[in-house]
Amino acid sequence: MTKKIIVALDFNAEDKALSLLDSLDAKQCRVKVGKELFTACGPQLITKIQDRGFDIFLDLKFHDIPNTVANAVRVAADMGVWMLNVHASGGREMMEKAREALEESGSERPLLIAVTVLTSLAEDDLRQIGIEVSTEEQVSRLAFLSHDAGLDGVVCSAAETRLLRAQLPAEFCLVTPGIRRAADASGDQKRVLGPAEAISNGSSYLVVGRPITQAESPSDALAEFNLAVASVS
Ligand code: C5P
Repeated sequence: MTKKIIVALDFNAEDKALSLLDSLDAKQCRVKVGKELFTACGPQLITKIQDRGFDIFLDLKFHDIPNTVANAVRVAADMGVWMLNVHASGGREMMEKAREALEESGSERPLLIAVTVLTSLAEDDLRQIGIEVSTEEQVSRLAFLSHDAGLDGVVCSAAETRLLRAQLPAEFCLVTPGIRRAADASGDQKRVLGPAEAISNGSSYLVVGRPITQAESPSDALAEFNLAVASVS
């Protein structure tokens, strides 16, 4: 089976992350390690997660001068992560240098994706940082730039998936957070979509956090998400 669910390990300590992994099957999902867990636990935890058989999306959203980002990406690739990301607003050269750094890892290289516009930014926020176009236009522009720079995909909100899928080639990955089943609380996510709808709209991978990590039975919750995804794959 193609594992399309990426479970977000949004924890601040190793024991919490590992005890969740004890209840999940590495054949059924991949996992995402973000800034909180990585800052708390560092690369040692990456190895421990990999030893349990899980593929890792290292969600550190690198954004710096091209040389610095390329070097960070090279180190992440050496850790053997499955996917990592940068901010597309770092520009074409930064993304190209990041992509080139991965070439050294050969065919086993991680997938490199970009964040376009953070979903926490409303149009007023964009104006404040000098972006005068609509969010949708800026997302599209940065997604095209990421594709042209040789990246493998972008993170995109459920609301953006259909538009981007229509504009970009099928093999360009769309990684979508904000996924909820009908009965799940949306939490702080403003716009949510069901797993089957997100895949139908063209998402390649779904990032799911609390509906699985906070479930009474994380493995049952994961099974439900996988079932919904399989129903439309
Ligand atoms: O718990 P929940 O399913 O809302 O977690 C979603 C995960 O996806 C979190 O790790 C969050 O940081 C991440 N994410 C997001 N929205 C974005 C980008 C990333 O929710 N636009």
